[in-house]
Amino acid sequence: MDKGIPKNILITGGAGFIGSHVVRRFVTKYYDHYNIINLDALTYAGNLENLKDVEEAPNYSFVKGDIAHSDFINELFSKHKFDGVIHLAAESHVDRSISDPVSFVRTNILGTVNLLNASLQMAKDNPDFLFYHISTDEVYGSLGKEGFFTESTAYDPNSPYSASKAGSDHFVRAYGATYRLPYVISNCSNNYGPNQFPEKLIPLFINNIIQNKPLPIYGDGNYTRDWLYVKDHAKAIDLVFHRGKKGETYNIGGFNEWKNIDLTKLLCRLMDKKLKRQEGFSEKLITFVKDRPGHDLRYAIDATKINQKLGWEPSVTFEEGLEKTIDWYFDNQEWLDHVTSGDYLEYYKRQYQA
Ligand code: NAD
Ligand code: TYD
Repeated sequence: MDKGIPKNILITGGAGFIGSHVVRRFVTKYYDHYNIINLDALTYAGNLENLKDVEEAPNYSFVKGDIAHSDFINELFSKHKFDGVIHLAAESHVDRSISDPVSFVRTNILGTVNLLNASLQMAKDNPDFLFYHISTDEVYGSLGKEGFFTESTAYDPNSPYSASKAGSDHFVRAYGATYRLPYVISNCSNNYGPNQFPEKLIPLFINNIIQNKPLPIYGDGNYTRDWLYVKDHAKAIDLVFHRGKKGETYNIGGFNEWKNIDLTKLLCRLMDKKLKRQEGFSEKLITFVKDRPGHDLRYAIDATKINQKLGWEPSVTFEEGLEKTIDWYFDNQEWLDHVTSGDYLEYYKRQYQA
């Protein structure tokens, strides 16, 4: 990579789960190539504790702000003249989207369009500018028992979350077609790993097992997800940002499908081992509860394109990734206590008033 003047790269949502891994990777790996500006509104899901180890790095800065505020976004872009944007900021939890769809439209669609508008000027001034939109496989809707999502699968979202992500993907493509904005999009399967907020299945269940609380399985538990370790997603984002073909989409997934009930039983076994509990102890916490409305039956990504074109493949098996994740939550009980008590939000809100 050319060592010249460092480029200014905006990462949105960098205080969140996946964003914090992407920020860390880019700040450390490209320390003399990029200035990383992390823009995050610090909602309930944003936590600067995720980035403690890089916050003093000279090529890193944090800006608290809301992507849904267009004036603020335009000012930020004029100030930093970004060379590239990696856009992860989003409302990301399906259950919340069912009770509050408007917040998802606001952040995921309006926020994305504000970033796209501000990016147009950057692209005019800099032929190398790139807008990279991070999306989800949930835009494709639900698979039956067979088959995989490919890059040409038609969009068919079922939840307000996936509908808002599909909307934002469409806007990115439309800005490419209409205004010639250089972009790439990637659609990834379910992530797990350190720093994930304990509302999503894996961290919620780890936390509940530690606390001896019920593990609420929606419906019959036969719903299937394709799980990917978050650091492997960050590695894929690095590759797509640097080597992805402009105007194209890349699907990212681990060829790692699990029915929720089987995953939960595996997690219970690993947790019993970790907690030195009798085998079968944690499984007794499993409780079948009312199903999620519009619950997609199965997601599974065909990741052939990114594998063949960019040479990406996952680096850990599911069991290895789960063990690393469990170890991380055990070693970071304080993080878990903070995010479940909400104390960290008050602290950082006071520190970074918008
Ligand atoms: P997350 O909820 O952990 O983090 C989202 C971050 O965005 C938080 O730090 C939050 O403070 C910030 N944010 C929310 N609204 C904002 C706003 N209006 N302005 C600025 N910042 C705002 O989410 P995540 O799981 O890390 O997901 C990151 C991205 O990856 C999302 O775009 C999501 O759709 C996508 N994705 C997630 C998964 C997954 O399994 N988690 C899978 C595929 C794709
Ligand atoms: P989740 O982690 O919310 O991700 P997504 O809905 O984006 O796939 O859920 C993963 C799967 O686990 C999904 O099929 C819903 C199910 N689930 C439960 O059965 N119980 C729970 O408490 C949660 C949070 C999810």
